[in-house]
Amino acid sequence: MNFNFTEEQILIQQAARDYAQRELIKDVLQRDASSEFPAHHVKALAELGFMGIMTDPVYDGAGMDTISYVLAMEELSKVDASVSVIVSVNNSLVCYGIEAFGSNMQKEKYLRPLARGEIIGAFLLSEPEAGSDATMQRTTAEDKGDYYLLNGTKNWITNGNSAGVYLVIAQSHPEKKHKGINVLIVERNSQGISVGPHEDKMGMRSSDTHSVMFTDVKVPKENRIGDDGFGFRFAMQTLEGGRIGIAAQALGIASGAYERALQYSKERKTFGTEIANHQAIAFKLADMATNIEAARFFCLKAAWLKDQGQPYGTASAMAKLFAADTAMWVTTEAVQIHGGYGYVREYHVERLMREAKLTQIYEGTSEIQKIIISREILK
Ligand code: CAA
Repeated sequence: MNFNFTEEQILIQQAARDYAQRELIKDVLQRDASSEFPAHHVKALAELGFMGIMTDPVYDGAGMDTISYVLAMEELSKVDASVSVIVSVNNSLVCYGIEAFGSNMQKEKYLRPLARGEIIGAFLLSEPEAGSDATMQRTTAEDKGDYYLLNGTKNWITNGNSAGVYLVIAQSHPEKKHKGINVLIVERNSQGISVGPHEDKMGMRSSDTHSVMFTDVKVPKENRIGDDGFGFRFAMQTLEGGRIGIAAQALGIASGAYERALQYSKERKTFGTEIANHQAIAFKLADMATNIEAARFFCLKAAWLKDQGQPYGTASAMAKLFAADTAMWVTTEAVQIHGGYGYVREYHVERLMREAKLTQIYEGTSEIQKIIISREILK
């Protein structure tokens, strides 16, 4: 193991930090209030190479490793997790899914513009009645010879309205249960697609979450990724990497709140001294720093395993479980350290607390991560 980052990794971390601290910070509170989609930030991050960080330069990506991705996600998420989830879904679910399992045609046609950030992607697995229990897909992709006929509804879709390309998981052979599920690349402007209203979320309010409905949408056969029936395994394998991104997001939310609490506790005075000098606060800060460091190691370990070509599903589940719980706890403590100031918008920590909650829910709830981990250790 090497605990030193390479020069390239440090450069990526610095570039993400600079962008977040100079640009994202300017309008993050306003976007949290208005839920406005951060289109100009996505465009700027695309120009900096962040929309296809890990994609091979052959397909117009930045060709960086998963460790760089973790470093970038932490820095962006310290300031704005609404923006970082857009980056995460595009990179580790959509670009990765097409690059790892797609055909040459699919990579040429879809991966290139996705990696350049000219279009963004969305991952459509969840349904009104299939969230954690992902095998229960009601959306159908009926085989009609040279095309699939897609019908059904997807829920809670990040980038649901802004995506140019959807990766849709759907059932083609119900009698085969999960082995009959396929994954299709569907263009957003195909006939028969309608998008529900913007979900009014507790946090990550400027990310674009919608239901997406498909009514007799024709999808060319060549847009199926992998063999017939590969869709469920595709979703499970792709989510293993997605969870590294969300773990790093949770890490960033936690460290963003911690940095604010640390700063505040050195400035705010009570009982004649800065509150950092009270052991009640100093011990909270010590516990926060320790848990954040542990979460960072979990994220980097999962990323390192992925970069080494070793199995990383359990490591990514552990990273997400631990980092999400850390984010929830650290942000709550950061609000507590700020007292009344922590409960108002302008000090940011209440927003970070609202953002933290979602990391315990999406890309597999904390309970789902425990299923994955316990099945592995009980094998
Ligand atoms: N890699 C490869 N194959 C896998 C796999 C993996 N990681 N996990 C499971 N499989 C395979 C199994 O081997 C099995 O195959 P066989 O039948 O051929 O043996 C098959 O898939 C079924 O597996 P299980 O029996 O384990 O399935 P299960 O019904 O018990 O469910 C689960 C497993 C882990 C709970 C799964 O349903 C799951 O991950 N649920 C959570 C879904 C999720 O994360 N949703 C998030 C939505 S996406 C999102 O949030 C994106 C966003 O916009 C931010």
